[in-house]
Amino acid sequence: MTNEFIEINDVSVNYEINNLLAVSGLDMKIKSGSFSAVVGPSGCGKSTLMKILSGLIKPTTGNVKINNFEVTGPQNFVGMAFQNPVMMPWRKTLENVLIPFEILKQNKSKKENIEEAIKLLKIVGLGDFIDSYPWQLSGGMQQRASLCRALVHKPKLLVLDEPFAALDAFTREELWCVLRDLWIDHKFTTLLVTHDLREAAFLADKIFVMSARPGKITNVHNVNFKHKRDLKITYSEKFVKLTQNLRKEISNNRS
Ligand SMILES: Nc1ncnc2c1ncn2[C@@H]1O[C@H](COP(=O)(O)OP(=O)(O)OP(=O)(O)O)[C@@H](O)[C@H]1O
Ligand SMILES: [Mg+2]
Repeated sequence: MTNEFIEINDVSVNYEINNLLAVSGLDMKIKSGSFSAVVGPSGCGKSTLMKILSGLIKPTTGNVKINNFEVTGPQNFVGMAFQNPVMMPWRKTLENVLIPFEILKQNKSKKENIEEAIKLLKIVGLGDFIDSYPWQLSGGMQQRASLCRALVHKPKLLVLDEPFAALDAFTREELWCVLRDLWIDHKFTTLLVTHDLREAAFLADKIFVMSARPGKITNVHNVNFKHKRDLKITYSEKFVKLTQNLRKEISNNRS
């Protein structure tokens, strides 16, 4: 027994279809309630890591433990959001956010689920759009809704794979603050994959840097900025230095 929430032990993933070793010798330890970011060169296996964590694929060797239990398939205590919001176009925003309750068995009533979904939609500024269809929302609004869908069943683990990559800089920073506030209030353990080093440094307490494929962790940075963080810190010398160091490490890992 350990007090780590997530333990990834010497994991490798070899995709059989093309005999491609995506990650190898991957080790990570993550504490409950923490916010971690994963950065690294394109194609190094970050999304593969997220899929292993959420139980969507199984490691070829090694194991992944969450709460001391080995992950052997999709988990109901995980919430996920990806680069493209993947909303169902025939469902209104509220109905899209309610999807996890249809998949997961929960004791709560439909009324309570709807209340929870509306509460979240209001927090992210979509209170007036619950009855809109996804195609009536902007990209940023769809991403907000997708964040609500990932969180509506109160997951213990939130897995985000480049959730804000497709957004303009202003909307992206706005959503950083939305995520920051939700995390401070609920302290779900969060793992965020991003190519945006400012995003990683602003949101995370720990940043894992990955090597080129086959990916493994080459460095871990502890980020010591106090919570709740203001966007102003992104202009501080310490912050800029951290993002420069990350950039250098990733550039070295590419070559
Ligand atoms: N389902 C799959 N089948 C076969 N190969 C795959 C599959 N998924 C990913 N790969 C390969 O595994 C490697 C790692 O891919 P992955 O998507 O995990 O990288 P990534 O770090 O998320 O990249 P990016 O930063 O571009 O999103 C790549 O070479 C990719 O082609
Ligand atoms: Mg990816």
